[in-house]
Amino acid sequence: MPSALKSDLVLGIETSCDETAASVLRGPRQVLSNVVASQAPVHRRYGGVVPELASRQHILAIDTVIQESLDEAGVTLRDLGGIAVTYGPGLVGSLLVGLSAAKAMAMVLDLPLAAVNHHEGHIHSLFIEHEEIPMPAVILMVSGGDTSLYVMEKPWAVRPLAHTRDDAAGEAYDKVAKLLGLGYPGGPIIDRLAKRGNPKAVAFSRPRMTDGTLDFSFSGMKTAVLRHVQAHGLEAAAGPGALVPGTGGSSTAAAGGGPEATAEASEAVLDLLASFQEVLVSYLVDHTVKAARLHAARAIGLSGGVACNSRLRASLREAGDRLGIPVFHPSPALTTDNAAMIAAAGWHHLAAGRTASLTLNADPSARL
Ligand code: KG4
Repeated sequence: MPSALKSDLVLGIETSCDETAASVLRGPRQVLSNVVASQAPVHRRYGGVVPELASRQHILAIDTVIQESLDEAGVTLRDLGGIAVTYGPGLVGSLLVGLSAAKAMAMVLDLPLAAVNHHEGHIHSLFIEHEEIPMPAVILMVSGGDTSLYVMEKPWAVRPLAHTRDDAAGEAYDKVAKLLGLGYPGGPIIDRLAKRGNPKAVAFSRPRMTDGTLDFSFSGMKTAVLRHVQAHGLEAAAGPGALVPGTGGSSTAAAGGGPEATAEASEAVLDLLASFQEVLVSYLVDHTVKAARLHAARAIGLSGGVACNSRLRASLREAGDRLGIPVFHPSPALTTDNAAMIAAAGWHHLAAGRTASLTLNADPSARL
């Protein structure tokens, strides 16, 4: 146990978007509890997250979620050695709920507070289950809020290599699903449906960066899907079952799970989804392989909600085999938004004495 902490139990709190989450970790890897209250049913009818509703739902859920995480871990507040909280990026009204709870607890319990960047948390999620990831490692972070490539030369020394210049990959999934009335969140639904379509049916072209960077862009892909949908009158072809609000996928998002929103989706829609997924996944994999070659990577890491995607996991694993390097990703419970990854990152901050003051504020556009 690091001398800076009175106990090696850290409570993590995460409320950056539409999941209220709390987790207790012993040290940086032993997950004693990982409680996530998803708001997906609240936002589903709008086809995306409504910030004001998200903030209100966090307020309603936060106390219960924290208490559940302590109960599940079999600990009390007095056993904790520190508190870790997401300060950004994310929705400001959502972040403030977690931050207020964490700061109040740190003050009353006289515990050190760690400020964790949400993306840093996603990177740490890789190391909870995989202690020894060879370095340098190239990490593809794909979520609903960001799509980035990083290189980690040695533990926790992370350098950004590329970012998205517009939408994130998860956002592209969610917007395509919304366009077709398939439900929210769109990623797991498209993942499931795309398995039944022909990935070569529609020839979507890949975005090209003229400046030679590895940056990403997904807005063109989304527009191409929109044009195809309009040209082929596919809004209606999504099927009557698909258009009923509240029948979307699960936010815990493992491919293949969740309600069958679109059993009646037409062949044309299935082909469109498979083709959209194919171009998006091959684009992500290509950039990751280029980054891995450029930085002589000895491993590839995949994290963020879209890392649940079955096609992306399989393609990246094949690419890793071709490069002769292993590919790591967290299990689904640690892949989508969760507080275990925040506690893990926070544990390292606290152990190194990097504590935040009680004036810590939310930073909706924080970067790593
Ligand atoms: O990491 P996350 O839970 O939240 C953010 O930090 O953004 O990621 C949520 C995103 C959503 O856009 C969701 O559609 C996507 O991850 N997602 C998936 C899958 N599961 C979740 N995208 C593609 N395939 C999946 N199986």
